[in-house]
Amino acid sequence: MTADQAKVEALAYALKQFVDVCDEAEALVGEKPLTPSEVDFQALARTMLPQTIDPQSIQGTGLKQLQHLVENCSKCKLSGTRSHTVFGEGVIPARLMVIGEGPGAEEDATGRAFVGKAGKYLDSWLGAISMSRETNVYIANIVKCRPPENRNPESDEISACIPYLKRQIQLVKPQIILLVGSVASQALLETTDGVGKLRGRFFRYEGIPVVATYHPAGVLRNPELKRPVWEDLKKVAAYLATPLNGRS
Ligand code: URA
Repeated sequence: MTADQAKVEALAYALKQFVDVCDEAEALVGEKPLTPSEVDFQALARTMLPQTIDPQSIQGTGLKQLQHLVENCSKCKLSGTRSHTVFGEGVIPARLMVIGEGPGAEEDATGRAFVGKAGKYLDSWLGAISMSRETNVYIANIVKCRPPENRNPESDEISACIPYLKRQIQLVKPQIILLVGSVASQALLETTDGVGKLRGRFFRYEGIPVVATYHPAGVLRNPELKRPVWEDLKKVAAYLATPLNGRS
């Protein structure tokens, strides 16, 4: 007999004893007793046993365990070419969670999200709305390993990696999410629309408000996008400044 079977038997026996005692008590006060033969105590006991935890499972992990799983991940081909995984960083719980596409060369070399040119530019966007990764923002990416030559992550890579991000969002508990770029927007919102179409309105992910805007690298290449980005950042700031919307 396995340990679990023994626990089921012991629990089923205890449950039966309990129901017998209840029956006797009910008989004493004149109520109609339960018939123990109608109850499947073994089935009841099985539902009461604690679930076995799979150490590879993402659900139920804390942030440190999740990072450990990411560091040891080989679920897609990007694991073969990375120097470092890039898990993400910032403050928890976050007022704002920024989600980008995936690490570039500097992120891959350092293991830190958004530390290259686009990252510095992103920091300046956050500063413009009085926010930062040191005080109230958490920054992460759709994929945790660098796609070679900075190509877009492929759909199998996104599918393999996005469960990590989804668990990360649960743990970071942001009040609002800012998706930067089409790759991040399409992956989290499960749409094929580009940022041009998605920006300017609020979406929801698991009840959390979401705003999509252009990627800082794209804005560096095309300064005409600065104005729409600023409009989107103001939306985020206005949402967070509304007293009913957030913790301060
Ligand atoms: N671009 C991204 O989308 N993420 C990073 O971490 C860096 C550049």
